[in-house]
Amino acid sequence: MKTPRSLTMVAALFLPVLVLGLQGAPSSPQERAALTPPMGWNSWNHFACKVSDATVRAQAEAMVSSGMKAAGYVYVNIDDCWEGTRDAQGFIHANERFPDMKALGDFIHSKGLKLGIYSSPGPKTCAGYDGSYGHEEQDAQTYANWGVDYLKYDWCSAKGDEQAAYAKMHDALRKTGRTIVYSLCQYGMERVWSWGAAVGGNSWRTTDDITDNYDRMALIGFGQNGLERFAGPGHWNDPDMLEIGNGGMKEQEYRTHMSLWCLLAAPLLAGNDLTKMTPETLAILTNPEVVAVDQDPGGVQGRRISQEGPLEVWAKRLADGSRAVGLFNRSESEARVTVYFRELGLGDSASLRDLWAHRDLGSFQTSFSADVPKHGVVLVKTGL
Ligand code: GLA
Repeated sequence: MKTPRSLTMVAALFLPVLVLGLQGAPSSPQERAALTPPMGWNSWNHFACKVSDATVRAQAEAMVSSGMKAAGYVYVNIDDCWEGTRDAQGFIHANERFPDMKALGDFIHSKGLKLGIYSSPGPKTCAGYDGSYGHEEQDAQTYANWGVDYLKYDWCSAKGDEQAAYAKMHDALRKTGRTIVYSLCQYGMERVWSWGAAVGGNSWRTTDDITDNYDRMALIGFGQNGLERFAGPGHWNDPDMLEIGNGGMKEQEYRTHMSLWCLLAAPLLAGNDLTKMTPETLAILTNPEVVAVDQDPGGVQGRRISQEGPLEVWAKRLADGSRAVGLFNRSESEARVTVYFRELGLGDSASLRDLWAHRDLGSFQTSFSADVPKHGVVLVKTGL
C-alpha cells in the first residue's frame, strides 16, 4: 500500500524531532547552560583546604584581569572545605574562612562571572566536612540564595543507590527555580557515563583524581577512548580538572594536557593560582584556537584514530566538518608521528594549520608527519 503523501510529510517533519528527543537534545535551561563544556576555575588542585573568601575574590579578579574571562572561563568554583556547621533548623553555614557567601556570590557576579560550590550526597565530604545527606532540599535552597550557578556533587561517604542519590539532588536543584550546572563526581564508578545525563548531570567524572604529574595526567587523558558516544551538548565526560601551571609538568606536557582535554570536549576548569600565572601558563590556557576545539558547537568528543606504541593520533570532528588532530608522543624521546588522511574520513589531501604555532602549514597529500618532542603534541586543524 502506498503511504499517503501527507503522512510522509508529517513523518519527515517529526522524525528529526523524535530522534533528537531520543538522543536527549538539550531542552532545559540547565542543559542549555552547558551546551559546550563548562569553563572556569576550581580551588581544589592548587589550594585544597587552604581556600578562603580572600583567595576566591583574588582568583575572580585575576580571571578578569588576566584575560581568562575573555577566553571563555566563567565559573569560579569553590571546592571542598568551605562548609561550617548546620543551625538548629538544619541549614548549612559556611565556616569562618567564608564570612558571607552571598556577598562573595554578589562580588563574583559583579565581575560577570559565575559561582560554583561543592558538596556530597553522603553525610561527609571527602575532606570530612558536612555533606548534604538528608538535607538536599535545604542545601539546594541555600545555594540558590547565595547565587550559586554550579554544583560539584562528590560521592565520598555516600552509600546506596548512586543514581537515586544524584537524581534526588537534581530534583532539589530544579525546585529552587535557579539554573545550576550539575557536575557529578564519583570517579567513573558504575559506568556513570551511561546514566549521568538521565539523573540530570551536565558532566560526570570518569576517573579518580588527577595529580600534577605527567604520568597521572596521561593515564587519565589517554584512557578516555571509547567514552565519546556518551558526551554531547548539555552533558559531558569529565576527566577531572586542569593542572596547567601548578608546576609539576614541563611546558610541552601541559600543552599535551590542554590539547587532549580540548580534543575530549572536557570541561576546562583551571586548577592553578590565577594571580601568579607565567605568560606560558596563560598562553596555554587561553590559546583561542585550541579553546575553540573544546568549545566547538558540534559537541563531539574526539577519539584515538591510530596508535603505534607510545605514538597516538587523536581526532575530533568539528561542526564545520573540519577535524582537529593531535599527534601525541608519549615516549621518552622525540619521535616522528604520522596521520593518514583516510583515517580521518577525509579525501586524499588536506590543508593544515598548527594551532599552537598559529601557523598555516600548507597542503599535504595522503598523510602528514611531525617531529613531536618527548611527552609533547602537535595539534593541527584541517581546512574545509
Ligand atoms: C575528591 C574529588 C576532588 C576534590 C576532593 C575534595 O577527591 O575527586 O576533585 O573535590 O574530593 O575533598
